[in-house]
Amino acid sequence: MDFFPAFLNLKYQNCLVIGGGEVALRKAELLLKTGAQVTLIAPEINEAVGSLSPAPICKKRIFDVKDLDGIRLVIVATNNEQLNADISRLAHEKNIPVNVVDNPALCSFIVPSIIDRSPMVIAVGSSGTAPVLARLTRSRIEAMLPMALSGLGKLANKYRQKVKDTFSNITQRRRFWEQVFEGEVADNYYAGRDTEGEQLFEDMLKTGAETIPTRGEVSLVGGGPGDPELLTFKAVRLLQRADVVVYDRLISKGIMELARRDAHKIYVGKKSSNHTLPQDEINQLLVDLAKQGKRVVRLKGGDPFIFGRGGEEIATLMENDVPFQVVPGITSASGCSSYCGIPLTHRDYAHSVVFATGHLQDDSVDLNWDSLAQPFQTTVIYMGIGGLKIITAKMIEHGLPAKTPVAVVHKATLPEQKIVIGDLTSIESLVQKEGLKPPSLIIIGEVVKLHQQLGWYGEKARPQAVNG
Ligand SMILES: C[S@@+](CC[C@H](N)C(=O)[O-])C[C@H]1O[C@@H](n2cnc3c(N)ncnc32)[C@H](O)[C@@H]1O
Repeated sequence: MDFFPAFLNLKYQNCLVIGGGEVALRKAELLLKTGAQVTLIAPEINEAVGSLSPAPICKKRIFDVKDLDGIRLVIVATNNEQLNADISRLAHEKNIPVNVVDNPALCSFIVPSIIDRSPMVIAVGSSGTAPVLARLTRSRIEAMLPMALSGLGKLANKYRQKVKDTFSNITQRRRFWEQVFEGEVADNYYAGRDTEGEQLFEDMLKTGAETIPTRGEVSLVGGGPGDPELLTFKAVRLLQRADVVVYDRLISKGIMELARRDAHKIYVGKKSSNHTLPQDEINQLLVDLAKQGKRVVRLKGGDPFIFGRGGEEIATLMENDVPFQVVPGITSASGCSSYCGIPLTHRDYAHSVVFATGHLQDDSVDLNWDSLAQPFQTTVIYMGIGGLKIITAKMIEHGLPAKTPVAVVHKATLPEQKIVIGDLTSIESLVQKEGLKPPSLIIIGEVVKLHQQLGWYGEKARPQAVNG
């Protein structure tokens, strides 16, 4: 290890930034965030300096050696190499920590890439050798850290002394904090319920961590159209800490692999007309599991609130006073659209888009055909493959030209993705010929033509897509 990692307390300390360009301003901004008194010196200073808050002291002139008097730390960001080297030498002579941007040889300290969830700050450095790699590593770590970490850090700061007074034994204290950061208090913060989280924290402090009963919770999570990389960060985090995952048929294997290994996984999948578990039993199952104190993830394909019966499930949770949250997912219409190169709206072809279901509760297909068969509109039909013949006939009957392009997309975003394209008269027989089955989505409208030009995902395009 070439550098000693440390966090400096620069509050009220005089710090100098030499340079007036964008990079100098970025460094000044970072120093200002820590409460340092910052002076910027350069003959010309970028006007964006006006947006810095608090404002640094600006001296529009060239650097003078006296500027280093009383300085705690200096950052040099000019494009004059000789000046950079001179200031570095002078700072070294005066034992002032100095950083010369992009020149590790002239630095006595380096500035890491950071993730700021103050008071939590994560710093990543490459000893000045590979800043881009450090930045990429930082992004990877950042993706795993919820924004709410900041709120939890502030909570810990606020109650630090109180917790010390309550638990004099260090092991007890550690266990208490673990229970806070891994349990329901943290869950509340992650779900944006800071007040409830803090209230629960105070209750825990009053009663002592050991006696706190753990309340269960249900997270209704959208699993997206299939590709595990389309999950949200929140979905992955919840999956990795769930006690139970209740999941649908549309959830791909790759997504289930992201769930905590020892989580109990309950399949309640449904094929259309073949319900494995009736909806009211699923609703009750969620209530029962939560009441047993379990952290439940109810994982649904796509988005829970788009033809996902998510509303019914949370209504039952509400009636039973079970805490819950809803995490949106990418709906399959978006997945199909992106992965097939079929924009759902387009200035030349479609000014609106309608999502409809092709499968009604009584197994009929009875839609508002007049509103669906509109020019300059894209109509996306979920669960419609069984009713394709009726759907296409009705669209023609209600005014859409028979030549209107139609795409049927099977298992979009997955390696098995298949797309069949035709028009309102031909699509049914083409789909039969190709043997497409559910889950498939129907896209009707002129935008379908764009697939020819914009399609990028699939057998031919995949190597390029992966590399890109
Ligand atoms: C019960 S609905 C659930 C929709 C889901 N909530 C959503 O937002 O995508 C199931 C239907 O979604 C569509 N679907 C879901 N995933 C799909 C995929 N990967 N490719 C094509 N269609 C999909 C199919 O029409 C399927 O019959």
